[in-house]
Amino acid sequence: MAARLVLFAASAAVLVSAQAPTPDPSAGCTSKSFSIPSWFIRDVTYSMTGDVSFQVWNRAINYTASMTCQTNEGWNACSAKGGPTTNGTLEASVQLSGDSATYLVNQTWTCNDRGKPMTFTAVGNSTALQNYTSPILVKGSLTSPVAITPAYPEGPTGHDTPGCTARSEKPSWILSHISYTNRTGNGISAPFVNFNLILTNPANGYEASCMPGTSYDYSADPSHLVCAGNEFQSSRIGRYAVSTQGSYDPDTSTFSMQQTWFCDDTDPAKPLNITASGSIALPFKCTTAELEAGGTETVCVTGSDITLEGKLGTVVTLPPYSIEEPIPARDGCTLSSIFNPRWLFSSFRVDDADSSSPAVSFEIILQTERGFQYPIPIYQGAALESGWYECDIGADGGNGLPLWPYQCSFKYTPASKELVLKADWACQDVDPNHPVQFSGLSTTTINTTLACETIDGKSQCATTDTGYSWVAPISDVTWKST
Ligand SMILES: *[C@@H]1O[C@H](CO)[C@@H](O)[C@H](O)[C@H]1NC(C)=O
Ligand SMILES: *[C@@H]1O[C@H](CO)[C@@H](O)[C@H](O)[C@H]1NC(C)=O
Ligand SMILES: *[C@@H]1O[C@H](CO)[C@@H](O)[C@H](O)[C@H]1NC(C)=O
Ligand SMILES: *[C@@H]1O[C@H](CO)[C@@H](O)[C@H](O)[C@H]1NC(C)=O
Ligand SMILES: *[C@@H]1O[C@H](CO)[C@@H](O)[C@H](O)[C@H]1NC(C)=O
Ligand SMILES: *[C@@H]1O[C@H](CO)[C@@H](O)[C@H](O)[C@H]1NC(C)=O
Ligand SMILES: *[C@@H]1O[C@H](CO)[C@@H](O)[C@H](O)[C@H]1NC(C)=O
Ligand SMILES: *[C@@H]1O[C@H](CO)[C@@H](O)[C@H](O)[C@H]1NC(C)=O
Repeated sequence: MAARLVLFAASAAVLVSAQAPTPDPSAGCTSKSFSIPSWFIRDVTYSMTGDVSFQVWNRAINYTASMTCQTNEGWNACSAKGGPTTNGTLEASVQLSGDSATYLVNQTWTCNDRGKPMTFTAVGNSTALQNYTSPILVKGSLTSPVAITPAYPEGPTGHDTPGCTARSEKPSWILSHISYTNRTGNGISAPFVNFNLILTNPANGYEASCMPGTSYDYSADPSHLVCAGNEFQSSRIGRYAVSTQGSYDPDTSTFSMQQTWFCDDTDPAKPLNITASGSIALPFKCTTAELEAGGTETVCVTGSDITLEGKLGTVVTLPPYSIEEPIPARDGCTLSSIFNPRWLFSSFRVDDADSSSPAVSFEIILQTERGFQYPIPIYQGAALESGWYECDIGADGGNGLPLWPYQCSFKYTPASKELVLKADWACQDVDPNHPVQFSGLSTTTINTTLACETIDGKSQCATTDTGYSWVAPISDVTWKST
């Protein structure tokens, strides 16, 4: 119980600090350099004299340069045409092969929007047909300040499945597991209606399950169906999710729906937002039975799956490559560790306080701007030299993105209530495949009264305010890529 109280109190503290009016830096040079170090190659033109020229647009810093390159065999280094190249360096080269061209970009730039200037270097390459007229996305990998390749979202279901666009021209849905139940009231239990079906869009393979929404009096309302698919389970969908509105009219047995989905199988530079709608009278077979408790129950089903032919509505072209574009996010593990590394401590206690070997424990979590997550307990492990102890790190509940040390050691001085923590932690929020490893030192004082009580002859001391938590900066932070 005490532990739960502490968690609630700690969460309140974290939520309050998360609401502080800090400006959102996610649209800034530094954040974008970590999330979208990438370029668009635009306006590719081949000249009569055998040169190729194009624009390189750095999407993280909105910087554009014009390049001209020869088209000899092998790699051709390009020269920047007109004006200063960049506020860093920009190198591009081109290699032609058959019908296609490969563009290699390597750029260094500096961002000053986070207090300390930070210099980035990114490299990337991309291949496209020589007659391709859309912008060409060159995804970059950072080589500095850390070697990471930002992860891109997967996008909504089936957006790049070959044929998605073509099949969308004649929209249709397969309806399955269709059922309607209507139970009349019997004076004791209220009337009850239910409607369920599963719909599958053959254009992209997207599947959603529909059920009645709740009306103002909390009863099920089939005229507003809630249709949901995998979009609520995956955080990797990106900025666009398939959405479905549905309704069922019991008087006419008519099911109506509208769906918005996305295809970019023909050209990822021209993603399509497709909306279509459809309506069908369901060929229900119903059976009515008297209920023992009084009243009747009518259950309606269709013998087999139904194909609903839809009508194409609007088709809108979205910004180039936007389906898999990372969503700007507030500072998570990596950026917090670089720009404002702080531990949130809570649940501090000392067991066996009177003995020659008191045992210190506390909870800890890295402070980020990404909302609430529970901290992890740290217990006193093996003794090291000069009063230092290894951390015995508690269970993390299977959290995939830990915000706490994977190894640490600490020293607690009871007289001054000073706690020193030497910790190593890793962040994989930017690049799940290449965690960035951090190390740092935190020196802090427990600025609250410790109340002690004796249980079974052993003294236990804890903060009197069980929700007491405090934030301490981490100094001497070093980081390296793995
Ligand atoms: C990018 O730069 C162009 C030209 O310098 C400018 O017109 C545009 O508004 C900039 N876009 C952003 C998002 O800053
Ligand atoms: C990118 O450019 C930098 C600076 O010119 C250079 O040190 C580095 O080797 C280049 N990287 C690649 C992959 O070409
Ligand atoms: C380089 O350009 C970016 C984008 O315009 C800007 O935010 C940054 O401060 C510039 N860096 C320097 C050193 O001028
Ligand atoms: C092009 O990028 C791929 C990774 O996307 C990399 O494996 C390959 O080495 C790069 N090619 C060149 C010439 O740099
Ligand atoms: C572009 O080139 C490819 C390969 O040569 C060809 O199949 C395609 O039809 C061309 N597209 C256009 C729009 O010319
Ligand atoms: C439910 O069934 C009762 C009895 O058959 C009928 O009177 C009523 O209209 C039905 N309600 C709906 C919403 O279909
Ligand atoms: C897609 O189109 C629909 C219908 O026009 C619109 O309501 C929706 O906001 C669009 N979605 C996006 C991401 O543009
Ligand atoms: C604890 O109190 C001291 C003295 O008032 C202060 O200097 C220190 O910053 C406080 N530490 C924390 C973690 O609040």
